[in-house]
Amino acid sequence: MTGIDYSQKIPNNVDLKSDKRLQRALERWQPDYIDWWKEMGPTHFNENDVYLRTAISVDRDGWANFGYVKMPDYRWGIFLTPTEPGGKIGFGDHEGEDVWENVPGEYRNWLRRLIVTQGDTEPASVEQQRLLGLTAPSLYDLRNLFQVNVEEGRHLWAMVYLLHSYFGKDGREEASELLERRSGNADSPRILTTFNEPCHDWLSFFCFTMFTDRDGKFQLLSLAESGFEPLARTTRFMLTEEAHHMFVGQTGIARVIRRTCEAMLESPDKDPMEMGVVPLEIIQHYINYWASSSLDLFGAEVSSNSANFFGAGIKGRAYEQKNYDEHKAIDQGYAINRWQDGKVVNDEVPLRNAMNEVLRDEYVKENEKGIQYWNRECEKAGIDFKFTYPHRRFNRKVGEWADGFFHVNTGEPMDETAYKKAALDWLPTQQEADYVKGLMKAVTEPGKYANWIAPPLRGINGQEHDFEYVKL
Ligand SMILES: [Fe+2]
Ligand SMILES: [Fe+2]
Repeated sequence: MTGIDYSQKIPNNVDLKSDKRLQRALERWQPDYIDWWKEMGPTHFNENDVYLRTAISVDRDGWANFGYVKMPDYRWGIFLTPTEPGGKIGFGDHEGEDVWENVPGEYRNWLRRLIVTQGDTEPASVEQQRLLGLTAPSLYDLRNLFQVNVEEGRHLWAMVYLLHSYFGKDGREEASELLERRSGNADSPRILTTFNEPCHDWLSFFCFTMFTDRDGKFQLLSLAESGFEPLARTTRFMLTEEAHHMFVGQTGIARVIRRTCEAMLESPDKDPMEMGVVPLEIIQHYINYWASSSLDLFGAEVSSNSANFFGAGIKGRAYEQKNYDEHKAIDQGYAINRWQDGKVVNDEVPLRNAMNEVLRDEYVKENEKGIQYWNRECEKAGIDFKFTYPHRRFNRKVGEWADGFFHVNTGEPMDETAYKKAALDWLPTQQEADYVKGLMKAVTEPGKYANWIAPPLRGINGQEHDFEYVKL
C-alpha cells in the first residue's frame, strides 16, 4: 500500500485501523503531541496559513501535495515505504536470513535505544528553532523553516509509531518522554549535545540544516539498511523528506555568500559590516562551529556499540548494499588515527568497531562537496576567498579528539594556550554573534529579502518570486 489514508484521525499507510489497540494508543499520544507543538513549536505562527507540502503517497515521484495549512492542523501521520516480499538481512552475523517483522528479543534494548536517540533529535530541532520565525529574512525562508519544522514533527511520529507498535509498555513510556525532554533544559535536556545548542539566528539555522540535518541523513541511511524491517521502511521515507532540509541549508548559505560578494563588488573599499552583510570570514567561523559540533553526533571513533549494532544487523553502513561487496566486516581492519599520550598515532582496529568513523567518512565527503558549491559563489563573483571544511579533529567534544586541541585546517595538535588564542579566529566571537543577531530583522513583504541574503534562484513548487508563502 503506497497511498495514504487521510480519512483517519491519524493519516497512515500501515492500515492502522485494523489494529485497534495500537490505534487507540497513538490517538492518546496525539493530543499530547499537539500540546507539545503548541508550546514548543513555532508558537507565534499557529494561526497563519503556510504554503506547505504534505505527503500523499510514498511513491518516489509526486509524493508531495502543496497547499495552505495552519501548522497545528498539519496532517502528521505514519508513512512507510512498501514491504519488499522475501527481504533478507543485508549485513552482519545474520546476513542472508529473513528480515525481522518484529523485534528480535536479544536486540530489543539496542533497537529501542537507537530509535529513542533518533526520535529525540526530531522534536529537539523544532525546539531549537522555535523563535526563528520572528526574524525570517523573507516569506520564502519563513515557509522553508516551517516546512522543516513540521517534517521534523513527522519524523517524531515515525519513531513513536515504532515505539508504540513494537516495544509495548516501555515503548509507550519512551514515547511520552520524547515530549517531556526539552532542548537546552538543564534538568531534562535532549539526549545529544548538539541538539541542546541554541539556534538563535538564521546563519546558524542554515548551518544546522546543512551539517546537523545531514548527520540525520547519514544516521537514517544506516538505519534504512536495518534487518528490523519496520525501521528500515520508515527511515527510507524519512530520507525523502530530509533532502529538502539540507537543500535549505546548502542554498541558504550560498545566498548569504552571494549577497556578501555582491556588496563587496559594489563597494570594494567598504567593510562588509558597514554595508549590513555578513563578512565571508564570519560565515567561515559559523561553518567551523556547526560542522565540528555535528561531527560529534556520529559518536566515538572506536566503539563497541557500533560493532554490536552492525553484528546484530540492526544498523549498517550508508549504502551498505550499493557500495560494499562484503557485508560481514568480520576479519577486516580499519586504519585509524588515535590520540595517545598527547600524540596522534596510527592504529588499526577491527572494522566493526570503526563503523561510526566509516559513516563519518561518507558524511565528510558529502560536506566537502557542499563547501565546493559555496566556493563557486565566490568564483562566479570573482572574489578571492576559499571556504574550507574544518579538520575532523577540530573542536570535538565527543570521541578520540575531545581531550586535545587541534588546528582547524591541518588537524595538527596544539598546546592549549596557542589553540585558545587561534580559536578566536576560527570560531564565532561574541562580537560576531552579536553582529549577526543584529542583522536579524523580519522581512514580511512578499518577494522582498533582507539586505544580508540574496533571493533564491527559484520559488518553491515553481511559484512566482512575489508569492505569499505565509499569510501573516
Ligand atoms: Fe528529521
Ligand atoms: Fe531534518
